[in-house]
Amino acid sequence: MTGLVVAMDGPSGSGKSSASRGVARALGLRYLDTGAMYRAITWWMLERGVDLTDPEAIAARALAPVLSMGTDPDAPSVAVDGADAALAIRTSEVTAAVSAVSAVPEVRRRLVAEQREIIGLGGIVVEGRDIGTVVTPGAPVKVYLTASADARALRRTAELTGTTVETQKAAMARRDTLDSTRKTDPLAMAADAVELDTTALNLEEVIAEVLRVIKEKA
Ligand code: DC
Repeated sequence: MTGLVVAMDGPSGSGKSSASRGVARALGLRYLDTGAMYRAITWWMLERGVDLTDPEAIAARALAPVLSMGTDPDAPSVAVDGADAALAIRTSEVTAAVSAVSAVPEVRRRLVAEQREIIGLGGIVVEGRDIGTVVTPGAPVKVYLTASADARALRRTAELTGTTVETQKAAMARRDTLDSTRKTDPLAMAADAVELDTTALNLEEVIAEVLRVIKEKA
């Protein structure tokens, strides 16, 4: 499995993270959460009061935070300027702001280059929005996960406290629109990706299905 790159794309709540980690674990591969990288930059900018309504202000600081990503699927980690940021990047403030930051071309250029460096010679499952289309268009296995809006909102609500399915559904719809209509590297399914609707599947079934696709393609 060295050399293998599995690209896992799809909108939030489609089950990408759990499935990607499970697949990496099953095959002894590394795991990279590229969404965590966009979240880490967003968190750093929020901490410093960067005006996130101003793309030029974001672009001017795009290279400043130093990221360090751990790729063990049992303990994925993210550090910013040497400090653990795993919890800080999951707040609702970061979630609400991340689409604005990830739409800025300077941010994407930087992170895509770092993602390619981490992928290196492969042996990795990579999850995100543009992995099969932009980051590693040559990946031998590409899976695009989807799920109904209700299923996605239900899953996200179960992970959080103090929120409702309706609130999550509205927040996700807003983020999906921003992520799939931005000019640079929008959320999109690669022409050669296998689409997998996870609405009626549990985690084990999604993992089994992705492992089947890998067996077939790799
Ligand atoms: O997967 P996530 O919800 O943690 O991702 C957070 C945000 O990062 C998402 O709204 C869009 C952005 N993102 C991106 O633009 N490109 C990626 N490859 C991964 C995430």
